[in-house]
Amino acid sequence: MVDRLKAAQERNRHLFGTLHGTTPPEVICERGDGVYLYDQNNRKYIDFSGGPHVASLGHGNQKVNEATKKQIDKVSFFFRAFWLNEPLLELAERIIKFAPPNLTMCQFCNSGSEANETAIKIARQYHVERGKPEKYMVVSRWQSYHGMTLGALSVSGHAIRRQKFEPILHQWPKIPAPLCYHCAYELTYPDCDIKCARALEEMINQVGSQYIAAFFIEAVGGAGTACMVPVPEYYPMVREICDKYDVLLIDDEVICGFGRTGKWFGINHWGVNPDIITSAKGMTGGYTPMAVVIIDEKIGKVFSETGAGFMHGFTMEGNPVSAATCLAVIDVLEKEGLVERCARLGEYFFQKGREKLSHHPVVGDIRGRGLLMGIELVQNKETREPFELKRRAANNLQHIAMNHGVMSYPTAGIKNGVSGDALLVSPPFIITEPVIDEAFDLLDAAITNFEKEFLQAEK
Ligand SMILES: Cc1ncc(COP(=O)(O)O)c(C=O)c1O
Repeated sequence: MVDRLKAAQERNRHLFGTLHGTTPPEVICERGDGVYLYDQNNRKYIDFSGGPHVASLGHGNQKVNEATKKQIDKVSFFFRAFWLNEPLLELAERIIKFAPPNLTMCQFCNSGSEANETAIKIARQYHVERGKPEKYMVVSRWQSYHGMTLGALSVSGHAIRRQKFEPILHQWPKIPAPLCYHCAYELTYPDCDIKCARALEEMINQVGSQYIAAFFIEAVGGAGTACMVPVPEYYPMVREICDKYDVLLIDDEVICGFGRTGKWFGINHWGVNPDIITSAKGMTGGYTPMAVVIIDEKIGKVFSETGAGFMHGFTMEGNPVSAATCLAVIDVLEKEGLVERCARLGEYFFQKGREKLSHHPVVGDIRGRGLLMGIELVQNKETREPFELKRRAANNLQHIAMNHGVMSYPTAGIKNGVSGDALLVSPPFIITEPVIDEAFDLLDAAITNFEKEFLQAEK
C-alpha cells in the first residue's frame, strides 16, 4: 500500500493543486458507462455524486458523443467575435424557451465561476449605463459558494474557501443563509417571521440602497450549505425587496440548472423570476465545458439603447463543439423526459435515503430537492454539534464510501463557514430504483464503518 501510494505520488508530481485530499491518489478513472465509473483495475463504482452534480445523463451517452464528434468533424473553433455560430444561435433559442419568461438573452462562457464573474460585471455595467454608477456592491449569503475566481469568491460566503485570499477579495456585505437546521437567529419556522429574508432589507437600508447593485443566491444550496432548501415564503419576499430597492436578483443555478432539482431551474419551485440566471455543470452533462448567463430583457434593452457594448468576453466562449454537445444534452433531456424523471425519482431517492441512513447517530439531517441531496454529519444528533473541522469527517467518510464502491462529494463549513460536515449525492437522472437502493446500502455500510473507525479513533 505504501509503495502504491509512493508510486502514485511520484506520478502526480507535475500536477499542481489538483488533489484536494478528496481522492485516494492511487485511483485512476479509466472509463465510464451509464451510472458507473471504472478504475484502472476495472473495479466498478456507482457514480452517486454525478461528477459532482455534472453527469446528469450518465457516462458514454451515444447521442451526445455522436453530436459532439459530428461538430468536431465540421469545425472545432473559430472566434465568436468574427463569425456567427449555428449551434450557438440554436442553443440560445432553445434555452430561452425553458428559461423564466423575462430572460431572453444568453451570454456563454466556460465554467460556473466565469458565469458568475460575468453576471457581476453585467449587473455593474447595467447600473452604470442607467446613470447609477454608485451602485457597485453585490450582497450575498454566508456559507454560499459561487466559484473560485476573485469576483465569484468575493460573493461566496464560504469562509474555508475565502480565508487565504481575504485581503484580495471585494469586501461586500453578507446576510445569514436561510438554513433552518442551523438558523442564525435560533428561531423556528413558521414562528420566525422569515427573519433571514427580512435581513436583506435591513442590510440594504444599513449600507444604503444607492450602493447595492445585486443580490446573489443559489436557489437550492450546494456545497456551502449541503443542499439547503429555503422555506416557501423566502424567495417571493427576496424578489419584492430587490424590486423595491432597484437591486438585481442573480440566481446561481450552476448546480440546479438543467433539471437537477426536478424542474428546469431550481427557482421554478418558488415561482419567482430572477433578473439573471447563471448555469454550468449539467448543461453539457460533463461531455465538454460550457456555462451560460441568461439575462432579463430589460437589461439587454439598456445595453442596446445606450449602444454600449458589454466590456467583457473570453476567447473560448461559445465554442461550437460545446454548443453542439449542449444541444444534444437538451434533446436527450426533452425527448426522454429526464427532468420529469428527476422529479419523480427524487421522491423515491429521499424516501430511501432517509429510510436507510437516518438511523445513524452521525446523520443529523438529510435535505435537498430532486436528485440533489445533502447528508449532514454531526457529532451529537441532539444538539446538532458538528465535528471539528480539523478531523475532516466528510473527507474520511468519502474515502470509506469510495472503498465500498460508491462515489459521493464531501464538504465542510456548512454550519458557520468553519465547521459542519456533509456528503452530497446527486446521481445521473438515468439511475434506476434498484441502483438507488444499492447505493444507499453501500453508503449505509460505509457510515457504519466510519462510525466504528472514526468515532472509535477519538476515544
Ligand atoms: C453553486 C455553484 N456556483 C458556482 C460554482 C463554480 O463552478 P465551476 O467550478 O464550474 O467554476 C460551483 C461549483 O461547484 C457551484 O456549486
